[in-house]
Amino acid sequence: MRRKIVAGNYKMNLNPAEVAELFDGITDYHFIEENKEMKVFPPFIYLSEALAKLGKSPITVGAQNGYFEAKGAFTGEISMAQLKAFEVESVLVGHSERREIFGEDNAIIKKKVDAALAEGLEVIFCCGEPLEVREEGTQKDFVIKQLEESLFHLSAEQMKNVVIAYEPIWAIGTGKTASSAQADEMHKDIRAAIAGKYSEDVAQSTSILYGGSVKPDNAVELFACENVDGGLVGGACLKAADFIAIANAL
Ligand code: G3P
Repeated sequence: MRRKIVAGNYKMNLNPAEVAELFDGITDYHFIEENKEMKVFPPFIYLSEALAKLGKSPITVGAQNGYFEAKGAFTGEISMAQLKAFEVESVLVGHSERREIFGEDNAIIKKKVDAALAEGLEVIFCCGEPLEVREEGTQKDFVIKQLEESLFHLSAEQMKNVVIAYEPIWAIGTGKTASSAQADEMHKDIRAAIAGKYSEDVAQSTSILYGGSVKPDNAVELFACENVDGGLVGGACLKAADFIAIANAL
């Protein structure tokens, strides 16, 4: 049975009082079903507090980013080894904002995937097309290329530590959520590509999350899709009540 995951990407948001309120608001949340999980990805400066406040809960804590070098003169960066030593469990890799704003291409993202897995971190691999690609109708080729160039060099065993998050860029932060049909179609294509590269077993074991304006009022329909295994949530994870409402839809 595939893992069902609701993950909150806080991005560069929240002051200390707001993050304390948010953690207090979710710390007692837990699922009854064993295959359901909640993950939070706060800014680096709040990782200690997240691990302290949520560490005893079933909620796992991840980092929004990590560098692929182990250590050295990389001012401002944090290594995957440092994240692992900090007891962070997973890391977002390939988020569209890292790609678009910070120039991370598929080659850099591949290095980050390898460095994270080498340290035993779980990788949340983000992929997704820009609006112009969706309008051209070439989104499937675009996303599969991202997988081929940054992920499909992995072994089937390594893929066990990878969760994929499909986030159409045109839906991120815009309120223009992909329709459940659009989301399920792309997730099906991604799952078929995994089956073709590895096996049906690997494809059916890989959780594929949807991200891009997931809200309490659209989560039920999205999560009901056969190939959608949960969501990677941005804006709506910044309020405990909204994030819990989305988790309840899983
Ligand atoms: O990583 C999740 C994020 O990109 C989605 O943001 O605000 O559209 O839910 P949002």
